[in-house]
Amino acid sequence: MDTKEIILDVKNLNTTFISDRKEIRIVKNVSFQLKRGTALAVVGESGCGKSVTMNSIMRFLGKNARVEADNIQYNALRDGKVTEYHLEKIKDPNGPEMRALRGPDMSMVFQDPMSSLNPVYKVGDQVAEGLIQHTGMKKKEARVKVLEMFRKLGIPDPEERIDNYPHQFSGGMKQRVVIAIAMICNPELIICDEPTTALDVTIQAQIMELLKDLQVKEGKSIVLITHNMGLVAEMADEVCVMYMGRVVEFGSLEDVFDRTSHPYTKALLRSVPVLGLADGQKLETIPGSTPNPANLKPGCEFADRCPECTAACREKDIPTFEISPGHRVRCLKYKNFPEVD
Ligand SMILES: Nc1ncnc2c1ncn2[C@@H]1O[C@H](COP(=O)(O)OP(=O)(O)OP(=O)(O)O)[C@@H](O)[C@H]1O
Ligand SMILES: [Mg+2]
Repeated sequence: MDTKEIILDVKNLNTTFISDRKEIRIVKNVSFQLKRGTALAVVGESGCGKSVTMNSIMRFLGKNARVEADNIQYNALRDGKVTEYHLEKIKDPNGPEMRALRGPDMSMVFQDPMSSLNPVYKVGDQVAEGLIQHTGMKKKEARVKVLEMFRKLGIPDPEERIDNYPHQFSGGMKQRVVIAIAMICNPELIICDEPTTALDVTIQAQIMELLKDLQVKEGKSIVLITHNMGLVAEMADEVCVMYMGRVVEFGSLEDVFDRTSHPYTKALLRSVPVLGLADGQKLETIPGSTPNPANLKPGCEFADRCPECTAACREKDIPTFEISPGHRVRCLKYKNFPEVD
């Protein structure tokens, strides 16, 4: 692996939730790489494990989660030099090692801006907090930086707005504040978990443009979890398709959109509005529903819903095949291609 080129390398990530009675593995052998300065979209139906995957990487999960992986490697690039961090080896998810990375190196933007903002503190103070914590910067100096960030993110009248409380902001502006919090320590890696679902279409487009700018102009690396295939088409360099806690297809935007290979991805693309869909063209829904993760049968998890399913699909775990460089599909249709893990 070229650590200068790859910012995040995840290999065989497994996340299990433990309750009194049972253990359920929600994320299963997830592997992917994020190239530095690019955007990766993570897509898949609700409940497929997109958030749990990213929260596992950021080590945001509580004590009832067991995160195991061969590798969760974050390669920081500072002054042309790469420093490798093995996040899977960090024992305490809230200890100093992880806290030092969250903010200045990797940051997360959550779906609901209200849950990320504290209603009783001024927005400016909430943005400044990370900066003061991580750099020891004085309040006055931090305020200047926050104003700069507000301007950069298109928050109007920053001098006045900086002293407002969250309820004085509209949804779109609140989301900008959340992005400001994520960006204030200048992280290289930004993970956005459906950052615009709560917003209307115009605001959504503005926020996305802003993220795209951060990637293209400032070289940030972005993971974008979304249900919106239009956004994927506009934003992503690569696409990771998940189903029932597994990566079922991974490839460049062109691989996944134009040379769609997994039957699930095909169904997903047919079932969601894509920009440019001809007027009157009807959307299909994916027949059937996702199986219960606590009660899985052997073989491919998509078998019961798959129009191309064969007996072999129900026998044992399905390997992943590389059907062209970087285009990986977890489906037996491609069993003549080389297996990758
Ligand atoms: N803390 C938790 N404890 C137990 N199970 C959990 C926990 N968090 C998530 N899950 C389960 O893990 C599965 C995947 O959830 P996850 O939130 O990652 O889905 P998602 O792909 O992000 O869905 P959505 O698109 O709706 O956000 C779900 O079945 C969910 O119920
Ligand atoms: Mg989610």
